[in-house]
Amino acid sequence: MRNGVLAITRDGTVAEINAEALRIFQLKRSPNAVGRHFSVVLAKHPDMVRVLHSAFELSHLPNRAELRLKTTGKVIGYTLSHVRDERARSTGVALFFKDLTKVEQLEERERLRDRLVALGEMAAAIAHEVKNPLAGIEVMAGLLKRQAAMAESPDAQSLLNDIISEAKMANQIVHEALEFVRPIRLQVEHTALADVLQSAVALAETKIPRRDITLEVKVEEGLPPIQGDHHQLCQLFTNLLINAFEALEGTGTVRVSAREGVLEEEGHGPAGEVHSTRSVVVQVADNGPGVPRELRDRIFNAFFTTKPQGSGLGLAIVRKVVDAHDGRIDIQSGASGTCFQVTLPVSGANDWFVPRPGVLARTSTDD
Ligand SMILES: Nc1ncnc2c1ncn2[C@@H]1O[C@H](COP(=O)(O)OP(=O)(O)OP(=O)(O)O)[C@@H](O)[C@H]1O
Ligand SMILES: [Mg+2]
Repeated sequence: MRNGVLAITRDGTVAEINAEALRIFQLKRSPNAVGRHFSVVLAKHPDMVRVLHSAFELSHLPNRAELRLKTTGKVIGYTLSHVRDERARSTGVALFFKDLTKVEQLEERERLRDRLVALGEMAAAIAHEVKNPLAGIEVMAGLLKRQAAMAESPDAQSLLNDIISEAKMANQIVHEALEFVRPIRLQVEHTALADVLQSAVALAETKIPRRDITLEVKVEEGLPPIQGDHHQLCQLFTNLLINAFEALEGTGTVRVSAREGVLEEEGHGPAGEVHSTRSVVVQVADNGPGVPRELRDRIFNAFFTTKPQGSGLGLAIVRKVVDAHDGRIDIQSGASGTCFQVTLPVSGANDWFVPRPGVLARTSTDD
């Protein structure tokens, strides 16, 4: 059973507790819970004890309530019911509950996605407004430069050159922003991850010199090809590799591995059904300085960067490509380095990926 079950008699003795309940309450090492008072068994979880204590006094018991267990940090969803005898007298209470920590993580990912969409919308609006005046500045500075040349004024000419190149750079940023918010059109085909990773490594090495960084690539034999876009996937892994190389600053190790796995998505229904999808799991791990905990949920945001020359779009694009393939990305980071894990379903990609209807469709016809 995927739910935790705990039954107590009227006097508070535990009559039944299943394995899932022991796991969630972290009571695995004290399996002799049956026969003891619940407040002793659950001594570690005073919040739960309080809920159970009140159970016999309430006529309407909590249904689908939530509680965070302070000692373990787990969030549980629970329902309490009276157990009655033939004469409908309450003889005990049964607690059905479920570990919601995973569901919470899913919701957190959803929130992150929403933030990204909102950010994209804003970037598109600003980019659109800024493009025209920028073009104006560039043209007018060009005209002025011609006049300065006729007036033989080298100082003015060099200043105007600076203005023009700055305007060009701003234009480039605007262009990238618009590129980023545009929906991805995937060219889905049978794609071998081994080929993708090989191209990604080659591409990353042309962008960042590897110097003394050791690179290991391990692809499991017999890895199934996935339905995906070779070019976009290549971009995804190139971005991860570039970040790893940059984090190592010339010395260290990058390990890339690909193996078969499953993508588990938990349904939100009461039964908590789990859908497992055949998948390919790719890890890109470096032994660099790691990502500080407080930055971890910001690094996927567009324009978030800690690098002087960074645009902060690398990981935002990574996430977008992963989403387009119906996959997921997880990060583990600590003092010993950073590992990005990308899980891609073997047959998952839709031809068209539009993150939210209406929001990004508008930008696709811009510029
Ligand atoms: N492997 C890594 N190790 C440590 N920090 C990382 C790693 N990958 C990403 N980061 C952090 O996440 C931030 C965002 O990464 P992202 O790729 O989105 O942008 P960027 O690398 O700064 O710029 P860009 O990729 O656009 O050139 C980085 O600035 C860096 O602080
Ligand atoms: Mg980057």
